[in-house]
Amino acid sequence: MEKMPQIGAGTFRLEGKVARQSVLDALEIGYRHIDTAQIYGNEEQVGDAIQTSGVDRESIFLTTKVWYEKLGKSDFIPSVHESLSKLKTDYVDLLLVHWPYPSDKIPMEEYLNCLAQAKEQGLCRHIGVSNFTLTQMDRAVSILGENAIYTNQVECHPFMQNRQVAKACYQHNMKLTAYMPLAVGKVMKDKTLNQIAEKYNATPAQIALAWAEKNNMFTIPSSTNRKHLQSNFDSQDIKLDEEDITRIDDLEKGERIVDPDFAPNWD
Ligand SMILES: NC(=O)c1ccc[n+]([C@@H]2O[C@H](COP(=O)([O-])OP(=O)(O)OC[C@H]3O[C@@H](n4cnc5c(N)ncnc54)[C@H](OP(=O)(O)O)[C@@H]3O)[C@@H](O)[C@H]2O)c1
Repeated sequence: MEKMPQIGAGTFRLEGKVARQSVLDALEIGYRHIDTAQIYGNEEQVGDAIQTSGVDRESIFLTTKVWYEKLGKSDFIPSVHESLSKLKTDYVDLLLVHWPYPSDKIPMEEYLNCLAQAKEQGLCRHIGVSNFTLTQMDRAVSILGENAIYTNQVECHPFMQNRQVAKACYQHNMKLTAYMPLAVGKVMKDKTLNQIAEKYNATPAQIALAWAEKNNMFTIPSSTNRKHLQSNFDSQDIKLDEEDITRIDDLEKGERIVDPDFAPNWD
């Protein structure tokens, strides 16, 4: 599929049959963006689900990510071939560098050139980055050129709104893909989101996703529960009032969930 759908299905932490079933359910419900990664260990199950779903491959937007240990010149492209073989397809729609290489021990030029080569070789339709800071986004654009990078996929939810990165994405004409848009379920416990949800006869998860959509973000919530997958998908029908958007904007507290020891110096 040419364009990334506004909502997709994430697959982090999903393994084996659970991963396969979640992707099958998502495709049946109508999701057309599936987000996986080499490190999730579920590319095979994602590939199985796509193959058996009966949904035409061309109408799916499939994303995978190259793990940082595979960013070296001799590992990068072979790792993409391995992903494609597991995914049982000859291209992905979007190929991301999952994390910038820690402390630049592999220069960004080296792995971004491999990323560009993957596209030239037809292994992917779009290329992008993930977990890139403002400085790293600028460097990436100076290496690959304006409009070459489709998205920066970063943590983003009502408690960590990543506004500076969102602004930089907008300036560079990149999409912001919000990962962990439900703050791994924490949105369900928030008082304000519960109050707003009541007003719209919705769930706090739907409100968090509708807020992200209103902010022009692309989301990839994950679920192992078909009802949750369905209601998350239905969040697209909710249009929030300005007053409620502002209340959610005010929930920002810089609460980062994903911060491994190899993470860059966050903005
Ligand atoms: N690029 C990166 O470095 C990076 C890092 C992290 C994540 N990601 C991507 O982003 C995706 C989303 O992040 P995530 O899966 O970690 O977190 P998330 O989507 O924010 O939250 C998933 C959690 O919320 C629960 N949930 C989902 N829908 C719900 C609903 N309607 N009501 C109540 N609970 C609900 C799920 O439980 P149930 O299964 O019980 O529904 C699961 O525990 C990942 O799957 C992955 O594809 C990327």
